[in-house]
Amino acid sequence: MAGRYPEEWIEQLRQRADIVQTISAYVPLKKNGKDYWGLCPFHGEKTASFSVSPDKGFYYCFGCKASGTVINFVMEMERMTYSEAVVFLANRYNMPVPEMREDPNWQKRREQRERLLSANREAARYFHETLYSPAGEPMLAYLKKRGVDDATIRKFGLGAAPDRWDQLTQHLREMGYTEEELRLVDLTRVKEAEEEKPRRVFDTFRSRVMFPIINQHGEVIAFGGRALGDEKPKYLNSSDTPVFNKRQGVYAANLLYKERSLRRVILVEGYMDVVALTQFGIKGVCATLGTALTEEQARLLKRYAPTVYLAYDGDAAGQKAILRGLDIFEREQFPARVLDFPDGLDPDEFIRRDGLEGFENLPALSPAAYRVRRMADDYPLDRAEGRADYARAAASLMAKVDPVEREGLLKQLSLQTGLSREVLLEQIALSAPAQSPARAHLPKRAARQIRESVPEGEPMDRTRAQETMISLLATGQLPKDVASEADFEDSQLREFYTALRDGKSPAALIEEQGSEADRARCARLMQPPPGGETDELIRMVEECVRTMRRSRAEEQLNQLKERLAQAQGAEKAEIMGRIVELTKTLKDMKNRT
Ligand code: UTP
Ligand code: MN
Repeated sequence: MAGRYPEEWIEQLRQRADIVQTISAYVPLKKNGKDYWGLCPFHGEKTASFSVSPDKGFYYCFGCKASGTVINFVMEMERMTYSEAVVFLANRYNMPVPEMREDPNWQKRREQRERLLSANREAARYFHETLYSPAGEPMLAYLKKRGVDDATIRKFGLGAAPDRWDQLTQHLREMGYTEEELRLVDLTRVKEAEEEKPRRVFDTFRSRVMFPIINQHGEVIAFGGRALGDEKPKYLNSSDTPVFNKRQGVYAANLLYKERSLRRVILVEGYMDVVALTQFGIKGVCATLGTALTEEQARLLKRYAPTVYLAYDGDAAGQKAILRGLDIFEREQFPARVLDFPDGLDPDEFIRRDGLEGFENLPALSPAAYRVRRMADDYPLDRAEGRADYARAAASLMAKVDPVEREGLLKQLSLQTGLSREVLLEQIALSAPAQSPARAHLPKRAARQIRESVPEGEPMDRTRAQETMISLLATGQLPKDVASEADFEDSQLREFYTALRDGKSPAALIEEQGSEADRARCARLMQPPPGGETDELIRMVEECVRTMRRSRAEEQLNQLKERLAQAQGAEKAEIMGRIVELTKTLKDMKNRT
Protein backbone atom coordinates (compact mmCIF):
# COMPACT_ATOMS: atom_id res chain seq x y z
CA MET A 1 0.00 0.00 0.00
CA ALA A 2 2.78 2.41 0.92
CA GLY A 3 4.49 1.70 -2.39
CA ARG A 4 5.32 5.17 -3.58
CA TYR A 5 7.28 6.21 -0.51
CA PRO A 6 10.27 4.57 1.16
CA GLU A 7 9.22 2.64 4.26
CA GLU A 8 11.71 4.41 6.57
CA TRP A 9 10.39 7.75 5.49
CA ILE A 10 6.81 6.69 6.19
CA GLU A 11 7.90 5.42 9.61
CA GLN A 12 9.48 8.82 10.29
CA LEU A 13 6.31 10.53 9.21
CA ARG A 14 4.21 8.32 11.47
CA GLN A 15 6.39 9.29 14.39
CA ARG A 16 6.57 12.97 13.61
CA ALA A 17 2.88 13.30 12.85
CA ASP A 18 1.83 12.96 16.45
CA ILE A 19 -1.20 10.70 16.46
CA VAL A 20 -2.68 12.15 19.65
CA GLN A 21 -2.31 15.70 18.40
CA THR A 22 -3.69 14.88 14.97
CA ILE A 23 -6.70 12.96 16.24
CA SER A 24 -7.39 15.58 18.95
CA ALA A 25 -8.14 18.04 16.19
CA TYR A 26 -11.21 15.92 15.38
CA VAL A 27 -12.08 14.08 18.59
CA PRO A 28 -11.68 15.33 22.17
CA LEU A 29 -9.38 12.87 23.95
CA LYS A 30 -8.71 12.22 27.62
CA LYS A 31 -5.65 10.55 29.01
CA ASN A 32 -6.17 7.41 31.00
CA GLY A 33 -3.10 5.35 31.80
CA LYS A 34 -0.80 5.22 28.83
CA ASP A 35 -3.53 5.72 26.28
CA TYR A 36 -6.01 8.40 25.31
CA TRP A 37 -9.75 7.82 25.08
CA GLY A 38 -12.65 9.50 23.37
CA LEU A 39 -15.97 8.98 21.65
CA CYS A 40 -15.47 7.03 18.46
CA PRO A 41 -15.92 9.26 15.39
CA PHE A 42 -16.80 6.22 13.24
CA HIS A 43 -19.90 5.09 15.06
CA GLY A 44 -22.39 6.78 17.37
CA GLU A 45 -21.70 6.13 21.05
CA LYS A 46 -22.15 7.66 24.47
CA THR A 47 -19.29 6.08 26.38
CA ALA A 48 -15.73 6.33 25.17
CA SER A 49 -14.48 3.13 23.59
CA PHE A 50 -12.14 4.76 21.11
CA SER A 51 -8.53 4.43 22.21
CA VAL A 52 -5.43 6.11 20.86
CA SER A 53 -2.08 4.69 21.78
CA PRO A 54 0.85 7.07 21.28
CA ASP A 55 3.32 4.29 22.09
CA LYS A 56 2.01 1.89 19.57
CA GLY A 57 1.08 4.56 17.06
CA PHE A 58 -2.46 3.50 16.30
CA TYR A 59 -6.08 3.95 17.29
CA TYR A 60 -8.53 1.17 18.01
CA CYS A 61 -12.25 1.30 18.74
CA PHE A 62 -13.38 -1.46 21.06
CA GLY A 63 -16.94 -0.83 19.89
CA CYS A 64 -16.83 -0.87 16.11
CA LYS A 65 -13.28 -2.19 15.66
CA ALA A 66 -12.24 0.76 13.54
CA SER A 67 -8.49 0.89 13.67
CA GLY A 68 -5.38 2.19 12.01
CA THR A 69 -2.49 4.57 12.14
CA VAL A 70 -2.49 8.34 11.94
CA ILE A 71 -2.42 7.96 8.16
CA ASN A 72 -5.52 5.76 8.12
CA PHE A 73 -7.24 8.22 10.42
CA VAL A 74 -6.62 11.12 8.05
CA MET A 75 -7.74 8.97 5.11
CA GLU A 76 -11.06 8.33 6.86
CA MET A 77 -11.71 11.79 8.22
CA GLU A 78 -10.49 13.80 5.26
CA ARG A 79 -11.74 11.25 2.75
CA MET A 80 -8.38 10.97 1.13
CA THR A 81 -6.46 8.26 -0.64
CA TYR A 82 -3.34 6.90 0.99
CA SER A 83 -0.98 9.19 -0.92
CA GLU A 84 -3.16 12.21 -0.34
CA ALA A 85 -3.15 11.56 3.40
CA VAL A 86 0.62 11.12 3.39
CA VAL A 87 1.12 14.42 1.58
CA PHE A 88 -1.42 16.13 3.85
CA LEU A 89 0.44 15.05 6.99
CA ALA A 90 3.83 15.73 5.48
CA ASN A 91 2.82 19.30 4.73
CA ARG A 92 1.29 19.75 8.13
CA TYR A 93 4.37 18.51 9.97
CA ASN A 94 6.89 20.05 7.60
CA MET A 95 8.41 16.90 6.23
CA PRO A 96 9.41 17.25 2.59
CA VAL A 97 7.91 14.40 0.58
CA PRO A 98 10.78 12.39 -0.94
CA GLU A 99 9.61 12.84 -4.51
CA MET A 100 9.63 16.59 -3.88
CA ARG A 101 13.28 16.50 -3.05
CA GLU A 102 14.35 14.08 -5.72
CA ASP A 103 12.35 14.93 -8.79
CA PRO A 104 12.88 18.43 -10.23
CA ASN A 105 9.98 17.87 -12.64
CA TRP A 106 7.69 17.17 -9.77
CA GLN A 107 8.35 20.57 -8.28
CA LYS A 108 7.71 22.14 -11.68
CA ARG A 109 4.47 20.23 -12.19
CA ARG A 110 3.36 21.22 -8.74
CA GLU A 111 3.99 24.87 -9.45
CA GLN A 112 2.19 24.65 -12.77
CA ARG A 113 -0.76 22.97 -11.08
CA GLU A 114 -0.94 25.82 -8.57
CA ARG A 115 -0.87 28.37 -11.40
CA LEU A 116 -3.61 26.65 -13.36
CA LEU A 117 -5.81 26.22 -10.30
CA SER A 118 -5.44 29.86 -9.39
CA ALA A 119 -6.33 30.89 -12.96
CA ASN A 120 -9.49 28.80 -12.60
CA ARG A 121 -10.26 30.34 -9.24
CA GLU A 122 -9.92 33.84 -10.72
CA ALA A 123 -12.13 32.85 -13.63
CA ALA A 124 -14.80 31.53 -11.27
CA ARG A 125 -14.69 34.79 -9.32
CA TYR A 126 -14.96 36.77 -12.55
CA PHE A 127 -17.95 34.72 -13.76
CA HIS A 128 -19.70 35.06 -10.44
CA GLU A 129 -19.20 38.82 -10.33
CA THR A 130 -20.31 39.14 -13.92
CA LEU A 131 -23.58 37.36 -13.09
CA TYR A 132 -24.59 40.29 -10.89
CA SER A 133 -23.36 42.95 -13.33
CA PRO A 134 -25.21 44.34 -16.37
CA ALA A 135 -23.35 41.91 -18.67
CA GLY A 136 -24.80 39.04 -16.65
CA GLU A 137 -28.43 40.11 -16.77
CA PRO A 138 -29.59 37.50 -19.30
CA MET A 139 -27.88 34.71 -17.35
CA LEU A 140 -29.28 35.81 -14.02
CA ALA A 141 -32.73 36.05 -15.59
CA TYR A 142 -32.29 32.55 -16.97
CA LEU A 143 -31.40 31.12 -13.55
CA LYS A 144 -34.31 32.93 -11.92
CA LYS A 145 -36.66 31.65 -14.60
CA ARG A 146 -35.53 28.14 -13.70
CA GLY A 147 -36.22 28.81 -10.03
CA VAL A 148 -32.68 29.03 -8.73
CA ASP A 149 -32.46 31.40 -5.76
CA ASP A 150 -29.54 33.62 -4.72
CA ALA A 151 -28.48 31.45 -1.81
CA THR A 152 -28.16 28.49 -4.15
CA ILE A 153 -26.28 30.58 -6.70
CA ARG A 154 -23.79 31.46 -3.99
CA LYS A 155 -23.59 27.91 -2.68
CA PHE A 156 -22.56 26.60 -6.09
CA GLY A 157 -20.64 29.73 -7.09
CA LEU A 158 -22.68 29.98 -10.30
CA GLY A 159 -21.71 32.66 -12.76
CA ALA A 160 -22.07 34.20 -16.19
CA ALA A 161 -19.75 34.16 -19.17
CA PRO A 162 -20.63 37.42 -20.96
CA ASP A 163 -21.50 37.64 -24.60
CA ARG A 164 -18.02 38.88 -25.61
CA TRP A 165 -15.10 37.42 -27.54
CA ASP A 166 -12.21 37.54 -25.17
CA GLN A 167 -13.05 39.54 -22.09
CA LEU A 168 -12.03 36.83 -19.62
CA THR A 169 -8.82 36.09 -21.50
CA GLN A 170 -7.87 39.77 -21.40
CA HIS A 171 -8.77 40.03 -17.73
CA LEU A 172 -6.60 37.06 -16.81
CA ARG A 173 -3.75 38.19 -19.09
CA GLU A 174 -3.73 41.48 -17.19
CA MET A 175 -3.45 39.52 -13.98
CA GLY A 176 -0.28 37.92 -15.31
CA TYR A 177 -1.43 34.55 -16.64
CA THR A 178 0.15 33.58 -19.92
CA GLU A 179 -1.76 32.60 -23.03
CA GLU A 180 -0.12 29.20 -22.73
CA GLU A 181 -1.50 28.74 -19.22
CA LEU A 182 -4.99 29.84 -20.20
CA ARG A 183 -5.00 27.44 -23.13
CA LEU A 184 -3.72 24.60 -20.97
CA VAL A 185 -6.61 25.03 -18.59
CA ASP A 186 -9.05 25.47 -21.50
CA LEU A 187 -10.32 28.90 -20.55
CA THR A 188 -8.94 30.26 -23.80
CA ARG A 189 -8.95 28.79 -27.28
CA VAL A 190 -7.06 29.88 -30.37
CA LYS A 191 -7.96 29.80 -34.01
CA GLU A 192 -4.74 29.90 -36.02
CA ALA A 193 -4.42 32.32 -38.97
CA GLU A 194 -5.81 31.02 -42.23
CA GLU A 195 -5.54 32.63 -45.67
CA GLU A 196 -7.07 36.10 -45.21
CA LYS A 197 -8.16 35.56 -41.61
CA PRO A 198 -5.83 36.59 -38.79
CA ARG A 199 -5.07 34.46 -35.73
CA ARG A 200 -7.82 34.80 -33.12
CA VAL A 201 -7.65 34.26 -29.40
CA PHE A 202 -11.04 33.89 -27.71
CA ASP A 203 -12.77 32.81 -24.52
CA THR A 204 -13.85 29.17 -24.45
CA PHE A 205 -17.08 30.07 -22.65
CA ARG A 206 -19.20 32.84 -24.09
CA SER A 207 -22.76 33.81 -23.33
CA ARG A 208 -23.41 30.94 -20.95
CA VAL A 209 -24.49 30.29 -17.37
CA MET A 210 -21.36 28.99 -15.67
CA PHE A 211 -21.08 26.04 -13.26
CA PRO A 212 -17.65 25.84 -11.64
CA ILE A 213 -16.61 22.23 -10.95
CA ILE A 214 -15.01 22.17 -7.53
CA ASN A 215 -13.26 19.14 -6.06
CA GLN A 216 -13.25 17.92 -2.47
CA HIS A 217 -10.31 20.17 -1.63
CA GLY A 218 -12.23 23.24 -2.74
CA GLU A 219 -10.14 23.67 -5.89
CA VAL A 220 -11.89 24.89 -9.04
CA ILE A 221 -10.80 22.26 -11.53
CA ALA A 222 -13.07 22.94 -14.52
CA PHE A 223 -16.29 24.51 -15.75
CA GLY A 224 -19.54 23.59 -17.39
CA GLY A 225 -21.45 26.28 -19.24
CA ARG A 226 -25.11 26.15 -20.22
CA ALA A 227 -26.39 27.89 -23.31
CA LEU A 228 -29.25 30.32 -22.71
CA GLY A 229 -31.40 28.94 -25.46
CA ASP A 230 -31.26 26.10 -27.95
CA GLU A 231 -27.71 26.75 -29.08
CA LYS A 232 -25.50 23.72 -29.41
CA PRO A 233 -23.93 22.29 -27.43
CA LYS A 234 -26.43 22.75 -24.62
CA TYR A 235 -23.65 22.29 -22.10
CA LEU A 236 -20.05 23.05 -22.95
CA ASN A 237 -17.52 21.52 -20.57
CA SER A 238 -13.81 22.18 -20.09
CA SER A 239 -11.84 19.54 -21.95
CA ASP A 240 -9.50 17.40 -19.89
CA THR A 241 -6.60 19.51 -18.64
CA PRO A 242 -3.59 18.94 -16.38
CA VAL A 243 -5.91 19.66 -13.42
CA PHE A 244 -9.09 17.98 -14.67
CA ASN A 245 -10.00 14.46 -15.66
CA LYS A 246 -13.71 14.17 -16.21
CA ARG A 247 -13.68 10.41 -15.67
CA GLN A 248 -12.41 10.78 -12.14
CA GLY A 249 -14.46 13.45 -10.40
CA VAL A 250 -18.07 14.29 -9.79
CA TYR A 251 -19.86 17.62 -9.81
CA ALA A 252 -20.40 19.04 -6.28
CA ALA A 253 -17.69 16.90 -4.67
CA ASN A 254 -16.91 19.92 -2.47
CA LEU A 255 -20.40 19.85 -0.95
CA LEU A 256 -20.35 16.07 -0.53
CA TYR A 257 -17.12 16.32 1.32
CA LYS A 258 -18.57 18.70 3.87
CA GLU A 259 -21.34 16.30 4.82
CA ARG A 260 -20.75 13.86 7.63
CA SER A 261 -22.69 10.65 8.17
CA LEU A 262 -24.63 10.78 4.93
CA ARG A 263 -27.19 8.00 4.73
CA ARG A 264 -26.84 7.89 0.96
CA VAL A 265 -25.34 9.76 -1.96
CA ILE A 266 -27.68 10.61 -4.81
CA LEU A 267 -26.14 10.42 -8.24
CA VAL A 268 -27.88 12.41 -10.97
CA GLU A 269 -27.05 13.17 -14.58
CA GLY A 270 -27.11 16.93 -14.80
CA TYR A 271 -25.73 20.06 -13.21
CA MET A 272 -29.23 21.50 -12.88
CA ASP A 273 -30.46 18.36 -11.15
CA VAL A 274 -27.80 18.75 -8.46
CA VAL A 275 -28.62 22.42 -8.06
CA ALA A 276 -32.39 21.89 -7.84
CA LEU A 277 -32.34 18.95 -5.42
CA THR A 278 -29.86 20.76 -3.20
CA GLN A 279 -32.01 23.88 -3.17
CA PHE A 280 -34.92 21.74 -1.97
CA GLY A 281 -32.80 20.69 1.00
CA ILE A 282 -31.60 17.27 -0.16
CA LYS A 283 -28.06 16.45 0.93
CA GLY A 284 -25.41 14.37 -0.77
CA VAL A 285 -26.35 15.03 -4.39
CA CYS A 286 -23.73 14.90 -7.13
CA ALA A 287 -23.46 14.27 -10.86
CA THR A 288 -21.09 12.70 -13.31
CA LEU A 289 -19.49 15.22 -15.61
CA GLY A 290 -21.19 14.75 -18.93
CA THR A 291 -19.92 11.18 -19.31
CA ALA A 292 -21.19 7.75 -18.46
CA LEU A 293 -20.40 6.58 -14.94
CA THR A 294 -16.87 5.24 -14.52
CA GLU A 295 -15.45 2.79 -12.02
CA GLU A 296 -13.25 5.52 -10.57
CA GLN A 297 -16.32 7.59 -9.81
CA ALA A 298 -18.08 4.61 -8.25
CA ARG A 299 -15.10 4.06 -5.97
CA LEU A 300 -14.94 7.75 -5.11
CA LEU A 301 -18.59 7.78 -4.03
CA LYS A 302 -18.03 4.84 -1.72
CA ARG A 303 -16.04 7.15 0.49
CA TYR A 304 -19.07 9.27 1.28
CA ALA A 305 -21.96 7.00 2.21
CA PRO A 306 -22.96 3.37 2.64
CA THR A 307 -25.42 3.44 -0.27
CA VAL A 308 -25.81 5.20 -3.58
CA TYR A 309 -29.14 6.15 -5.15
CA LEU A 310 -29.15 6.35 -8.92
CA ALA A 311 -31.47 9.20 -9.81
CA TYR A 312 -31.04 9.53 -13.54
CA ASP A 313 -33.52 10.98 -15.99
CA GLY A 314 -36.71 9.00 -16.45
CA ASP A 315 -36.25 8.88 -20.24
CA ALA A 316 -35.01 5.92 -22.29
CA ALA A 317 -31.38 7.09 -22.24
CA GLY A 318 -31.50 7.51 -18.46
CA GLN A 319 -32.98 4.05 -18.01
CA LYS A 320 -30.23 2.47 -20.06
CA ALA A 321 -27.62 4.38 -18.10
CA ILE A 322 -29.14 3.16 -14.83
CA LEU A 323 -28.85 -0.49 -15.86
CA ARG A 324 -25.22 0.13 -16.77
CA GLY A 325 -24.62 2.01 -13.53
CA LEU A 326 -26.11 -0.83 -11.48
CA ASP A 327 -23.65 -3.24 -13.06
CA ILE A 328 -20.75 -0.97 -12.20
CA PHE A 329 -21.84 -0.51 -8.58
CA GLU A 330 -22.39 -4.23 -8.27
CA ARG A 331 -18.84 -4.89 -9.50
CA GLU A 332 -17.54 -2.36 -7.00
CA GLN A 333 -19.69 -3.97 -4.31
CA PHE A 334 -21.38 -0.70 -3.51
CA PRO A 335 -25.05 -1.16 -2.53
CA ALA A 336 -27.24 0.78 -4.95
CA ARG A 337 -30.89 1.76 -5.22
CA VAL A 338 -32.81 3.41 -8.00
CA LEU A 339 -35.22 6.32 -8.03
CA ASP A 340 -37.35 5.79 -11.10
CA PHE A 341 -38.87 9.12 -12.11
CA PRO A 342 -42.28 8.93 -13.76
CA ASP A 343 -43.31 10.44 -17.08
CA GLY A 344 -39.76 10.68 -18.40
CA LEU A 345 -38.98 13.52 -16.01
CA ASP A 346 -35.52 14.37 -14.75
CA PRO A 347 -34.95 15.03 -11.00
CA ASP A 348 -35.06 18.80 -11.48
CA GLU A 349 -38.38 18.69 -13.30
CA PHE A 350 -39.80 16.10 -10.90
CA ILE A 351 -39.03 17.94 -7.68
CA ARG A 352 -40.40 21.18 -9.06
CA ARG A 353 -43.61 19.37 -10.06
CA ASP A 354 -44.11 17.10 -7.00
CA GLY A 355 -42.08 18.88 -4.35
CA LEU A 356 -39.80 17.52 -1.66
CA GLU A 357 -42.55 15.26 -0.36
CA GLY A 358 -43.07 13.68 -3.76
CA PHE A 359 -39.35 13.10 -3.99
CA GLU A 360 -39.06 11.55 -0.54
CA ASN A 361 -42.03 9.29 -1.28
CA LEU A 362 -40.50 7.77 -4.40
CA PRO A 363 -39.69 4.14 -3.64
CA ALA A 364 -35.98 3.34 -3.64
CA LEU A 365 -35.96 0.28 -5.86
CA SER A 366 -33.48 -2.52 -5.37
CA PRO A 367 -31.36 -3.38 -8.41
CA ALA A 368 -33.40 -6.55 -9.02
CA ALA A 369 -36.71 -4.74 -8.72
CA TYR A 370 -35.53 -2.12 -11.16
CA ARG A 371 -34.24 -4.70 -13.62
CA VAL A 372 -37.51 -6.58 -13.49
CA ARG A 373 -39.39 -3.36 -14.05
CA ARG A 374 -37.32 -2.56 -17.13
CA MET A 375 -37.71 -6.08 -18.41
CA ALA A 376 -41.47 -5.59 -18.50
CA ASP A 377 -40.94 -2.85 -21.10
CA ASP A 378 -39.43 -5.39 -23.49
CA TYR A 379 -42.41 -7.77 -23.66
CA PRO A 380 -45.90 -7.31 -25.09
CA LEU A 381 -47.79 -7.86 -21.85
CA ASP A 382 -51.15 -7.62 -23.59
CA ARG A 383 -50.48 -11.01 -25.20
CA ALA A 384 -50.34 -14.38 -23.44
CA GLU A 385 -46.94 -15.39 -24.91
CA GLY A 386 -45.56 -11.99 -24.06
CA ARG A 387 -46.59 -12.43 -20.45
CA ALA A 388 -45.19 -15.98 -20.34
CA ASP A 389 -41.83 -14.93 -21.79
CA TYR A 390 -41.68 -12.04 -19.39
CA ALA A 391 -42.44 -14.35 -16.46
CA ARG A 392 -39.60 -16.69 -17.50
CA ALA A 393 -37.12 -13.87 -17.92
CA ALA A 394 -38.07 -12.22 -14.65
CA ALA A 395 -37.92 -15.54 -12.79
CA SER A 396 -34.34 -16.08 -13.88
CA LEU A 397 -33.47 -12.67 -12.45
CA MET A 398 -35.28 -13.36 -9.20
CA ALA A 399 -33.34 -16.52 -8.47
CA LYS A 400 -30.62 -14.25 -7.11
CA VAL A 401 -32.90 -12.13 -4.95
CA ASP A 402 -33.23 -12.70 -1.23
CA PRO A 403 -36.55 -14.17 0.00
CA VAL A 404 -37.85 -11.00 1.63
CA GLU A 405 -37.47 -8.92 -1.46
CA ARG A 406 -38.60 -11.79 -3.65
CA GLU A 407 -41.94 -11.80 -1.88
CA GLY A 408 -42.78 -8.28 -3.02
CA LEU A 409 -41.60 -8.92 -6.55
CA LEU A 410 -43.62 -12.14 -6.73
CA LYS A 411 -46.83 -10.33 -5.90
CA GLN A 412 -46.18 -7.78 -8.56
CA LEU A 413 -45.17 -10.35 -11.15
CA SER A 414 -48.23 -12.43 -10.37
CA LEU A 415 -50.47 -9.42 -10.93
CA GLN A 416 -48.78 -8.53 -14.20
CA THR A 417 -48.79 -12.01 -15.69
CA GLY A 418 -51.83 -13.62 -14.13
CA LEU A 419 -49.68 -16.57 -13.11
CA SER A 420 -50.01 -17.97 -9.61
CA ARG A 421 -47.39 -17.52 -6.94
CA GLU A 422 -46.72 -21.26 -6.91
CA VAL A 423 -46.07 -21.46 -10.62
CA LEU A 424 -43.74 -18.50 -10.45
CA LEU A 425 -41.86 -20.01 -7.51
CA GLU A 426 -41.41 -23.24 -9.45
CA GLN A 427 -40.13 -21.31 -12.41
CA ILE A 428 -37.65 -19.50 -10.18
CA ALA A 429 -36.46 -22.80 -8.73
CA LEU A 430 -35.98 -24.13 -12.25
CA SER A 431 -33.85 -21.24 -13.36
CA ALA A 432 -31.78 -21.11 -10.21
CA PRO A 433 -29.08 -23.68 -11.03
CA ALA A 434 -28.91 -22.67 -14.67
CA GLN A 435 -28.31 -19.12 -13.53
CA SER A 436 -24.92 -19.69 -11.97
CA PRO A 437 -23.92 -23.28 -11.33
CA ALA A 438 -20.56 -22.36 -9.85
CA ARG A 439 -22.08 -20.07 -7.29
CA ALA A 440 -24.86 -22.46 -6.35
CA HIS A 441 -22.43 -25.19 -5.38
CA LEU A 442 -19.79 -23.05 -3.87
CA PRO A 443 -21.02 -22.87 -0.28
CA LYS A 444 -21.16 -26.65 0.10
CA ARG A 445 -17.78 -27.18 -1.44
CA ALA A 446 -16.23 -24.39 0.57
CA ALA A 447 -17.73 -25.77 3.74
CA ARG A 448 -16.27 -29.19 3.03
CA GLN A 449 -12.87 -27.73 2.27
CA ILE A 450 -12.89 -25.84 5.50
CA ARG A 451 -13.96 -28.92 7.45
CA GLU A 452 -11.23 -30.99 5.87
CA SER A 453 -8.52 -28.47 6.52
CA VAL A 454 -9.27 -28.27 10.23
CA PRO A 455 -8.06 -31.35 12.11
CA GLU A 456 -10.18 -32.94 14.78
CA GLY A 457 -9.68 -31.68 18.29
CA GLU A 458 -9.97 -28.11 19.41
CA PRO A 459 -9.33 -25.84 16.46
CA MET A 460 -10.29 -22.74 18.44
CA ASP A 461 -7.66 -23.44 20.97
CA ARG A 462 -5.05 -23.71 18.37
CA THR A 463 -5.95 -20.53 16.57
CA ARG A 464 -6.22 -18.69 19.85
CA ALA A 465 -2.75 -19.84 20.82
CA GLN A 466 -1.34 -18.49 17.58
CA GLU A 467 -3.22 -15.24 17.94
CA THR A 468 -2.13 -14.72 21.50
CA MET A 469 1.42 -15.44 20.47
CA ILE A 470 1.21 -12.63 17.90
CA SER A 471 -0.12 -10.24 20.57
CA LEU A 472 2.70 -11.23 22.88
CA LEU A 473 5.29 -10.67 20.17
CA ALA A 474 3.77 -7.28 19.35
CA THR A 475 4.55 -6.06 22.87
CA GLY A 476 8.19 -6.15 21.77
CA GLN A 477 9.15 -7.76 25.07
CA LEU A 478 9.82 -11.26 23.79
CA PRO A 479 12.78 -12.68 21.95
CA LYS A 480 11.52 -13.24 18.44
CA ASP A 481 12.70 -16.83 18.33
CA VAL A 482 10.34 -18.11 21.01
CA ALA A 483 8.25 -19.18 18.04
CA SER A 484 9.08 -20.15 14.50
CA GLU A 485 7.35 -19.70 11.19
CA ALA A 486 6.22 -23.32 11.18
CA ASP A 487 4.23 -22.74 14.37
CA PHE A 488 1.71 -20.66 12.46
CA GLU A 489 -0.58 -22.69 10.34
CA ASP A 490 -2.87 -19.73 9.64
CA SER A 491 -1.17 -18.00 6.71
CA GLN A 492 -2.17 -14.51 7.76
CA LEU A 493 -0.88 -15.06 11.26
CA ARG A 494 2.32 -16.45 9.77
CA GLU A 495 2.68 -13.24 7.77
CA PHE A 496 2.15 -11.16 10.89
CA TYR A 497 4.77 -13.26 12.66
CA THR A 498 7.45 -12.89 10.00
CA ALA A 499 6.77 -9.16 9.71
CA LEU A 500 7.18 -8.64 13.48
CA ARG A 501 10.21 -10.93 13.57
CA ASP A 502 11.83 -8.89 10.80
CA GLY A 503 11.34 -5.71 12.79
CA LYS A 504 8.25 -4.20 11.23
CA SER A 505 6.36 -1.97 13.69
CA PRO A 506 2.80 -2.94 14.66
CA ALA A 507 1.61 0.38 13.25
CA ALA A 508 3.19 -0.29 9.85
CA LEU A 509 1.72 -3.75 9.83
CA ILE A 510 -1.80 -2.46 10.49
CA GLU A 511 -1.49 0.18 7.87
CA GLU A 512 -0.51 -2.15 5.08
CA GLN A 513 -3.54 -4.40 5.48
CA GLY A 514 -5.64 -4.10 2.36
CA SER A 515 -9.17 -4.74 3.59
CA GLU A 516 -10.94 -3.31 6.60
CA ALA A 517 -11.51 -6.80 7.99
CA ASP A 518 -7.80 -7.59 7.84
CA ARG A 519 -6.97 -4.26 9.39
CA ALA A 520 -9.41 -4.89 12.25
CA ARG A 521 -7.98 -8.34 12.89
CA CYS A 522 -4.44 -7.05 12.82
CA ALA A 523 -5.22 -4.14 15.16
CA ARG A 524 -7.01 -6.45 17.57
CA LEU A 525 -3.92 -8.67 17.72
CA MET A 526 -1.60 -5.72 18.23
CA GLN A 527 -3.34 -4.99 21.54
CA PRO A 528 -1.47 -6.34 24.53
CA PRO A 529 -3.01 -9.56 25.81
CA PRO A 530 -4.81 -9.34 29.14
CA GLY A 531 -2.63 -9.82 32.20
CA GLY A 532 0.65 -8.04 31.84
CA GLU A 533 2.68 -9.12 34.88
CA THR A 534 5.93 -10.70 33.81
CA ASP A 535 5.16 -14.08 35.39
CA GLU A 536 1.78 -14.09 33.78
CA LEU A 537 3.37 -13.24 30.42
CA ILE A 538 5.85 -16.08 30.66
CA ARG A 539 3.10 -18.48 31.57
CA MET A 540 1.09 -17.35 28.56
CA VAL A 541 4.03 -17.72 26.23
CA GLU A 542 4.64 -21.22 27.48
CA GLU A 543 1.05 -22.17 27.06
CA CYS A 544 0.90 -20.80 23.54
CA VAL A 545 4.06 -22.52 22.47
CA ARG A 546 2.88 -25.75 24.00
CA THR A 547 -0.48 -25.61 22.28
CA MET A 548 1.06 -24.67 18.96
CA ARG A 549 3.69 -27.40 19.11
CA ARG A 550 1.19 -29.96 20.26
CA SER A 551 -1.25 -29.29 17.50
CA ARG A 552 1.57 -29.37 14.99
CA ALA A 553 2.65 -32.75 16.32
CA GLU A 554 -0.93 -33.96 16.08
CA GLU A 555 -1.14 -32.83 12.54
CA GLN A 556 2.10 -34.57 11.64
CA LEU A 557 0.82 -37.68 13.30
CA ASN A 558 -2.34 -37.61 11.22
CA GLN A 559 -0.35 -37.15 8.06
CA LEU A 560 1.90 -40.03 8.92
CA LYS A 561 -1.09 -42.25 9.56
CA GLU A 562 -2.49 -41.39 6.17
CA ARG A 563 0.82 -42.15 4.48
CA LEU A 564 1.09 -45.39 6.40
CA ALA A 565 -2.06 -46.68 4.77
CA GLN A 566 -0.40 -46.47 1.37
CA ALA A 567 3.22 -47.24 2.27
CA GLN A 568 4.97 -50.59 1.84
CA GLY A 569 8.11 -52.39 2.95
CA ALA A 570 10.94 -50.32 4.35
CA GLU A 571 9.03 -47.08 4.08
CA LYS A 572 6.19 -48.57 6.09
CA ALA A 573 8.57 -49.60 8.85
CA GLU A 574 10.13 -46.16 8.96
CA ILE A 575 6.78 -44.44 9.22
CA MET A 576 5.75 -46.82 11.98
CA GLY A 577 8.84 -45.87 13.90
CA ARG A 578 8.13 -42.18 13.60
CA ILE A 579 4.55 -42.64 14.64
CA VAL A 580 5.58 -44.41 17.79
CA GLU A 581 8.03 -41.65 18.58
CA LEU A 582 5.55 -38.85 17.95
CA THR A 583 2.85 -40.54 19.97
CA LYS A 584 5.20 -40.71 22.89
CA THR A 585 6.19 -37.07 22.58
CA LEU A 586 2.57 -36.08 22.42
CA LYS A 587 1.76 -38.10 25.48
CA ASP A 588 4.58 -36.38 27.35
CA MET A 589 3.30 -33.01 26.23
CA LYS A 590 -0.18 -33.81 27.43
CA ASN A 591 1.05 -35.11 30.75
CA ARG A 592 2.84 -31.88 31.39
CA THR A 593 -0.31 -29.82 31.04
P1 UTP B 1 -29.41 16.81 -20.11
O1 UTP B 1 -29.55 17.03 -21.57
O2 UTP B 1 -30.27 15.79 -19.44
O3 UTP B 1 -29.60 18.21 -19.48
O4 UTP B 1 -27.89 16.48 -19.80
P2 UTP B 1 -30.18 18.70 -18.10
O5 UTP B 1 -29.20 18.45 -17.01
O6 UTP B 1 -31.57 18.25 -17.90
O7 UTP B 1 -30.09 20.21 -18.39
P3 UTP B 1 -31.24 21.26 -18.48
O8 UTP B 1 -32.18 20.96 -17.38
O9 UTP B 1 -31.83 21.16 -19.83
O10 UTP B 1 -30.47 22.54 -18.28
C1 UTP B 1 -27.43 15.96 -18.61
C2 UTP B 1 -26.00 16.31 -18.43
O11 UTP B 1 -25.23 15.84 -19.51
C3 UTP B 1 -24.19 16.75 -19.80
C4 UTP B 1 -24.27 17.83 -18.75
O12 UTP B 1 -23.44 17.45 -17.63
C5 UTP B 1 -25.71 17.79 -18.36
O13 UTP B 1 -25.95 18.36 -17.10
N1 UTP B 1 -24.32 17.36 -21.13
C6 UTP B 1 -25.52 17.45 -21.74
C7 UTP B 1 -23.21 17.87 -21.72
O14 UTP B 1 -22.10 17.79 -21.16
N2 UTP B 1 -23.31 18.47 -22.94
C8 UTP B 1 -24.51 18.59 -23.56
O15 UTP B 1 -24.56 19.17 -24.66
C9 UTP B 1 -25.63 18.07 -22.95
MN1 MN C 1 -33.14 19.14 -16.93
